[in-house]
Amino acid sequence: MNKEKIFIFDTTLRDGEQSPGASLTPKQKLEIALQLERLNVDIIEAGFPIASPGDKEAVSLISKHIKNCQIAALARARKEDIDICAEALKYAKYPRIHTFIATSDIHIKYKLKMTKQEVLETAINAVKYARKFTDNIEFSCEDAARSDIDFMCKVIQEVINAGAKVINIPDTVGYSIPEEFSELIEKIKSRVANIDKCILSVHCHNDLGLAVANSISAIIHGARQVECTINGIGERAGNAALEEIVMILKTRTRYPKLKNFYTDINTKELYPTSRLVSTLTGITVQPNKAVVGYNAFRHESGIHQDGILKKRQTYEIMSPQDVGVPSTELVLGKHSGRHALAKRLTTLGYRLRKDTIDKIFVKFKQLCDKKKYVFDEDIVALVNEELGKSKEQIELKYFHINSGSGIIPTATVEIAITINSQHKTFREAEFGDGPIDAAYKSIDKIICNLFHLPAAPKLVDYQLKAISSGKDAQGEVMVKLEYENVLFTGRGVSTDIIEASIKAYISALNNFILNKKITKNLKTKLGL
Ligand code: KIV
Ligand code: ZN
Repeated sequence: MNKEKIFIFDTTLRDGEQSPGASLTPKQKLEIALQLERLNVDIIEAGFPIASPGDKEAVSLISKHIKNCQIAALARARKEDIDICAEALKYAKYPRIHTFIATSDIHIKYKLKMTKQEVLETAINAVKYARKFTDNIEFSCEDAARSDIDFMCKVIQEVINAGAKVINIPDTVGYSIPEEFSELIEKIKSRVANIDKCILSVHCHNDLGLAVANSISAIIHGARQVECTINGIGERAGNAALEEIVMILKTRTRYPKLKNFYTDINTKELYPTSRLVSTLTGITVQPNKAVVGYNAFRHESGIHQDGILKKRQTYEIMSPQDVGVPSTELVLGKHSGRHALAKRLTTLGYRLRKDTIDKIFVKFKQLCDKKKYVFDEDIVALVNEELGKSKEQIELKYFHINSGSGIIPTATVEIAITINSQHKTFREAEFGDGPIDAAYKSIDKIICNLFHLPAAPKLVDYQLKAISSGKDAQGEVMVKLEYENVLFTGRGVSTDIIEASIKAYISALNNFILNKKITKNLKTKLGL
């Protein structure tokens, strides 16, 4: 029997980026898209262009650079959304417009405030309109898992008649359980007369921890495209994790109900992709995360270690090499040259431009003066710092701390703000409960003065950890700031934890000022 391909639709850059605090710049999104292309996903959902100018820019940038994957962009079932999608996708070699409308009673009544007839007509019109731009149209019934099956089947049948080539069935709120979800897929297949004219897709959220199980169950019962994200990131509890779905299909090839499926994913790129997404989004991967977690291939108990030494398969169902976990961790130091660094960057999954590698190399050499061994984590941190830069940003210029036992901690901080390649510097001093508090208060003072804010964004999370081993290890600080219910994440790394803390704070503020409204405000205030 011929094997059937499961299409992998990656939505890390769209639904994944909807994770609280995970805002990415267009340049960072392109970096992730290039890695997704190496991973060989079939479709990259690059964004939701109507949502913000940054999203549109990212879709357009990715469309220009990615030539081996289809590029999808999301649109509500509205002309203005579809127009902007088409515009953003105009450079894509294989564009896909992904349009959606909710089909569940609760969404129709309370969110859309429409009748079912209006929803049906809106869906058909959206697909017909999108077809003016491309034949590659995907249609999603939002909240499908809670929809009235008769109505949803009618919508599906009509949008296929209107030209949709992929029908996506989302479990938008992660409500289904595997048996129930596969029954839904079966019902759609048996009730929609023209269903064989399209690819059936699923998109599962993880609110009850069942996103991957539901996706696999749907594949067994007829879905041929799965929508998923790297590390399972996404709205609320996230989406189905791409690496788990792919490795289930690769590992369980002898299980009768799964043996006829394959994906085209280059599994050796899973781990580097996971690392890249984690460092650029600032969302850490839990250590016990399946497939890509730090502990996924570590054996602690003596009995297990003994078994592994005798025969690896006693306690390992996949090999770490298959998912691209690098075999050595410690490689570089003071005597390593640019070539060694470039090679290590490739092993870690980064294919960077020459000028970016040059900049990272300068930083690498500076780091080698501060610490003896440079670990993979240190290199990832340098890459992240370089890729995280944007045209409009705040930069730390200088800080001085006075702290000790029996004295009040004080800080002086100088920062430069760059807008349209013009810089302005600002300096403030403050005292606080500790040196970091004092430094943050100094920065807050500058920010509040500049924006005339009554209060600075609120610090809601602060985490410090060593990113490698040894007394000279770099400290990594992750912070989350909240402003008007929106979260902004920042990450800073340094051998000096106060510097790492200030950098993390500034990086979160950079995300804050990249927020369109605030940047516009800032430009006016600075007269730029
Ligand atoms: O979860 C969902 O329903 C979605 C759709 C827009 C596909 O993300
Ligand atoms: Zn979703």
